[in-house]
Amino acid sequence: MIRPLTFFLFFYLFIISSPAISSSVSVTYSPKTLVESGDLVNIQWNGVETPTESDWLGIYSPPNSSNNSYIGYVFLSSCNKWRTGSCSIDLPLVNLRSKYEFRIFRWRDDDETGKKKVDPDHNPVPGTKHMLAKSEGELGLETGRGPEQIHLALTDHEDEMRVMFITEDGKENYVKYGGDENAMNKAVNTFVSRYEREDMCDAPANHSTGWRDPGFIRQKLEITQKVLLQGWSDTHSFMSRAKNSDETYAILFGDMGTATPYSTFHTTQDESVSTMKWILRDIEAQGDKPIFISHIGDIGYARGYSWVWDTFFTQIEPVASKVPYHVCIGNHEYNWPLQPWKPDWANMYGKDGGGESPATRNLFYSFDSGVVHFVYLSTETNFLPGGDQYNFIKHDLETVNRTKTPFVVVQGHRPMYTTSDEYRDVPLRSRMLEHYEPLFVKNKVTLAVWGHVHRYERFCPLKNFTCGEEDEALPVHIVIGMGGHDWQTLWTPRPSQTTYPIFPQPERSLFRTGEFGYTRLFATKEKLTLTFIGNHDGEPHDMVEILASSKILRRAEESSNKSEVENGYLSWFISHGRRVATSGGAPVKTNDV
Ligand SMILES: [Fe+2]
Repeated sequence: MIRPLTFFLFFYLFIISSPAISSSVSVTYSPKTLVESGDLVNIQWNGVETPTESDWLGIYSPPNSSNNSYIGYVFLSSCNKWRTGSCSIDLPLVNLRSKYEFRIFRWRDDDETGKKKVDPDHNPVPGTKHMLAKSEGELGLETGRGPEQIHLALTDHEDEMRVMFITEDGKENYVKYGGDENAMNKAVNTFVSRYEREDMCDAPANHSTGWRDPGFIRQKLEITQKVLLQGWSDTHSFMSRAKNSDETYAILFGDMGTATPYSTFHTTQDESVSTMKWILRDIEAQGDKPIFISHIGDIGYARGYSWVWDTFFTQIEPVASKVPYHVCIGNHEYNWPLQPWKPDWANMYGKDGGGESPATRNLFYSFDSGVVHFVYLSTETNFLPGGDQYNFIKHDLETVNRTKTPFVVVQGHRPMYTTSDEYRDVPLRSRMLEHYEPLFVKNKVTLAVWGHVHRYERFCPLKNFTCGEEDEALPVHIVIGMGGHDWQTLWTPRPSQTTYPIFPQPERSLFRTGEFGYTRLFATKEKLTLTFIGNHDGEPHDMVEILASSKILRRAEESSNKSEVENGYLSWFISHGRRVATSGGAPVKTNDV
């Protein structure tokens, strides 16, 4: 029992430390309700006396969050007329299935809050001791609308597509569809699933700062070649896989992440906006050609903060509602101390998953798309001989119909080959090399693509760190983790770590760069082409062409500047086709990947 004196002391401390609201400052917003995710809210403030560069606007959802539990912030000085004490900004906000509130603070030297809490760059985040104003009412999104966060996926059947989206309630609803926008004469029910707070492993995923109601996740399998979808709002269209197609078009990258329109204490990936922009350009240029996305791990970097997942799925919807979006898991989708797979030799496991419940389904799978057999594997869970995954991969590679699919592309998160500084992954790499390289070589895997290292790096056809002859049919390894996350050290070794990265660039590494971007894969029965597109200009910056015989037709270092590539749908050019050891790129931050 708390004694009266103790209670009085608590009450007194509470009173003197409570932030005071300045009556002269007001913050308003318009409209009062947003229609859907991505809509802009205009937030206006007035009456800020003697404005300082440390005045800031906090974004809260749900509205009853404590002052320290903001999801984002914007400094008022980002507004042109901030010195007048009155200004406004526009923010696109995402439907988090809870309302928003805005509060304005003055961050002063006597405010310790921000000094204790730092952002991903280790800068202190704004303190909340001196609140100037908070918005009247709560900003919501229109109810009864949907679907949101639409994304597609292929299924085990070549002529099917899985349609997934989020709704705010579990009521029965349907997807209308048809082959023509004027003939949407079919409707199918959806089945619903969701997860609960108790399903999360640990904080922050099951904590008040990380947990948000996930809504209701709906799925429906549907069929046919061209489908127009109609929920109870916009109409969407997509192409399913073409049966017996003699060509393949895919877009591959890893480690893309999420961007927020405001600053936050959480690591976000601004570059992902450019990645999505260029990919959408490419998809729209293809018209009705079937394409799919392959995001090979470290997907949204939510790290246990589920509002980041909502932001991620909203961000990819323009792409993922048009073409299937496939993934394999990375450390940020699995890593947690309590995970069941944690062998003694591995020193690579930490808290990258943020307490989210580790994925346990569909960790390894494969499918055909046109002339290419695609394999997805999990580097995060048991991949050793004798396990289910190894048996699956071995059997899968040994039974590929190379007449139907002359090319085989294997994808996983942590690379088997890299010259980066990922020394922590050496034990894993050595086991991948020991157990999987023989499978890849024996079964003539065309390409092995990897993420995790936030760089692009292309190797020669490899076996045991050695380049093979052109007609030897060895796998070409390429690291494509340059989708958006900027935390990776440069190629130059540091005094404290002289072994990795490998410098100067070894012979087996034909091209490595620090630029963000993605890769385009195009294949016919005769030839597979993989092209690296850089985000700074949306242009090709490296490529490799591999014939069905596994002969390397043309490597980047053999290409002339701005030479056109044959058989490409788009005008593909090579602007930097030469072997270079790039030392530029993203800033050095930390070894966190
Ligand atoms: Fe990773």
